[in-house]
Amino acid sequence: MSKDKVQIFDTTLRDGEQVPGCKLDTAQKLVIAERLDLLGVDIIEAGFPISSPGDFNSVQEISKIVKNATVCGLTRAVKKDIEVAAEALKYAVKPRIHTGIGTSESHIKFKFNSNKDAIIERAVEAVRYAKTFVEDVEFYAEDAGRTDNEFLARVCEAVIKAGATVLNIPDTTGYCLPDEYGAKMKYLKENVTGIHKAILSCHCHNDLGLATANSIAGVINGARQIECTINGIGERAGNTALEEVVMILRQHPYLNLDTNVNSKLLYDTSQMVSQKMGMLVQPNKAIVGANAFAHSSGIHQDGVIKNRETYEIMDPADVGVNESSIVLTARSGRAALAYRAKNVGYELTKIQLDTVYDEFLKFADLKKEIQDDDIHEIIVASGITIET
Ligand code: KIV
Ligand code: ZN
Repeated sequence: MSKDKVQIFDTTLRDGEQVPGCKLDTAQKLVIAERLDLLGVDIIEAGFPISSPGDFNSVQEISKIVKNATVCGLTRAVKKDIEVAAEALKYAVKPRIHTGIGTSESHIKFKFNSNKDAIIERAVEAVRYAKTFVEDVEFYAEDAGRTDNEFLARVCEAVIKAGATVLNIPDTTGYCLPDEYGAKMKYLKENVTGIHKAILSCHCHNDLGLATANSIAGVINGARQIECTINGIGERAGNTALEEVVMILRQHPYLNLDTNVNSKLLYDTSQMVSQKMGMLVQPNKAIVGANAFAHSSGIHQDGVIKNRETYEIMDPADVGVNESSIVLTARSGRAALAYRAKNVGYELTKIQLDTVYDEFLKFADLKKEIQDDDIHEIIVASGITIET
């Protein structure tokens, strides 16, 4: 049975770029956009054109070079924003305007000093206006995570009638629990008239570390687009990490969902974005962190050396990492030492291994990690002679 496709909407260059101190120039954005297109994302959110001349220029230049993906520009529910976004997107083969407004009690009251009916009116006007420029109009209900479902459904119904093709349901503050976010999608699927005309989209922030879990709950409950960034970068604790949702869907085939992303390019793309943004990837980052396929405790190393699948749920090659690594530390056992010694040219007998292992532990207690060069030194210090 063919799998249902979940569209990957990459917002590294818009929401991701909102990381304090990580501004990219147009040339850097173009290189990243080209890579995202090659990676196979379906939509590239290239920027917020009205926000600055630099952002306008980036969206325009990206629109010219992207060959496959839809190129999207963000706007508020403001006519001028929409006009400027349409102008910036005019060279895109597949342009999308992403417009919207806050829908939660606090946004309506404090941000807009408004009321529910007036918010719906502005939302509808914005979508209708955007439709005069492009066919593909995505609507976001900012702070949908804290918006009551009944009102959210009214907003969604109204903007679908106005022509919205995608409904973005952002958990802007990263507050929802996965069950709650999933239930929100289910509620919209079941209660919005005309919902079959639009795609529901997950846009989750990571303030409580739940962005990925919430996005997955969203697609399990009927959403068919996930908005995400490379390495999960973004304002505050960041956005849903693209590499995580792509691999979760791939590693759980029974969900019957997949994406168009070429996962073998994930590691290189992660490194590229990290370098261009000057933002290190945390070593324990899922999928693309330096330790994601590194094994350092004796029990795990023994298992992985016997059969990789004992402690690995995916093949590192599938995400573009050459191979798993066996890291030698004071927690490593004989199997790991024999394996690494063999890699640098020493085939140890069992008796030799016992002697070398005693010496290894002395070294390892003094060092965080034993490198290949240290192995030669350890063998010499152990006093045994080995043919290499
Ligand atoms: O988090 C959010 O609500 C957003 C919208 C502007 C789409 O980024
Ligand atoms: Zn966001």
